[in-house]
Amino acid sequence: MAEIGKDIERAKALLKRGKLVAIPTETVYGLAANATNADAIARIFEAKNRPSFDPLIVHVPDLHAVKLYADNLPLKALALASNFWPGPVTILFKKKEIIPDIVTAGLETVGIRCPNHPLTRELLEELDFPLAAPSANPFGYISPTTPEHVNEQLGDKIAYILDGGPCTIGIESTIVGFNNDQATVYRLGGLGIEDIEKVIGSVDIMLHSSSNPKAPGQLKSHYAPSKRLVIGNLDQALSDKPSAKVAVLSFQKDYKIPYQFILSSTGNLTEAAKNLFLGLRTLDKMPVDIILTDLVPDQGLGRAINDRLKRAAAEQ
Ligand code: TXA
Ligand code: MG
Repeated sequence: MAEIGKDIERAKALLKRGKLVAIPTETVYGLAANATNADAIARIFEAKNRPSFDPLIVHVPDLHAVKLYADNLPLKALALASNFWPGPVTILFKKKEIIPDIVTAGLETVGIRCPNHPLTRELLEELDFPLAAPSANPFGYISPTTPEHVNEQLGDKIAYILDGGPCTIGIESTIVGFNNDQATVYRLGGLGIEDIEKVIGSVDIMLHSSSNPKAPGQLKSHYAPSKRLVIGNLDQALSDKPSAKVAVLSFQKDYKIPYQFILSSTGNLTEAAKNLFLGLRTLDKMPVDIILTDLVPDQGLGRAINDRLKRAAAEQ
């Protein structure tokens, strides 16, 4: 198991030596390494068992730092960053040579974001390199929103887990790319489309992917528990006694059954997003065969929640 603590100096020293450190962000915990050190990055792919075609996000302390790692910054991208950073949006820029190809899986673009967590911001400000960090989970499994989640699954592969408490948003960043001045959202996430459009006008949304996805977070089967997750109408599904042993992940309603997790008893989408991965993890450990769930209202963060539920439910 890895050591968990709040020692920024320790995290810094390890990262400088090319080691892996799990870091807190407002979205999910990241598995970080020096983004300019190809050997350190290779260890991230190995620890996560992540296919080499799946690029990593690079984390920076502020907007100024982007110029060190990327070229041709579109005006709308800058507007997005200055409005929402630090925060849950990743922007795709044309990469500079200092970012090794292994980080971007050979793509010409690099995803960059400035995370909003005080510990990680302090860490980034004090380091003289940016941090590449995918979510700190084995590839394809549910993302971690507490240090304990990280330790459960990757504890034997990381040097240190920087403890920033539970993530406040709980769902990964929204990914936005630019083609000239047209914005495309490649992954729904912690920043709502409505908020983005208020700042840069209408965006395209391209979430579906084929065998060679632009953003593998778009892979249909992803973010998945090991139990089968089935989306349906919960009222209907629970009206006659189900034959299999089921657990229920509900948005708001209390079904009064032994294995259930309510995302937000007040029907609040922000709270539901924060609880989503914890709920899936909790039910995954219950002695049941199937997890039943229902989609949430498809607006704001609800769109990202529904996206994750559908991917988690997709056949492997
Ligand atoms: O909130 C987040 O974004 C978290 C925290 C730790 O920052 N990170 C995260 O990383 O979710 P990861 O690796 O689990 O998901 C990153 C997604 C992947 O699906 C990857 O394909 C996509 O970002 N991505 C990264 N760079 C890209 C690029 N240049 N072009 C297209 N997609 C990219
Ligand atoms: Mg991930």
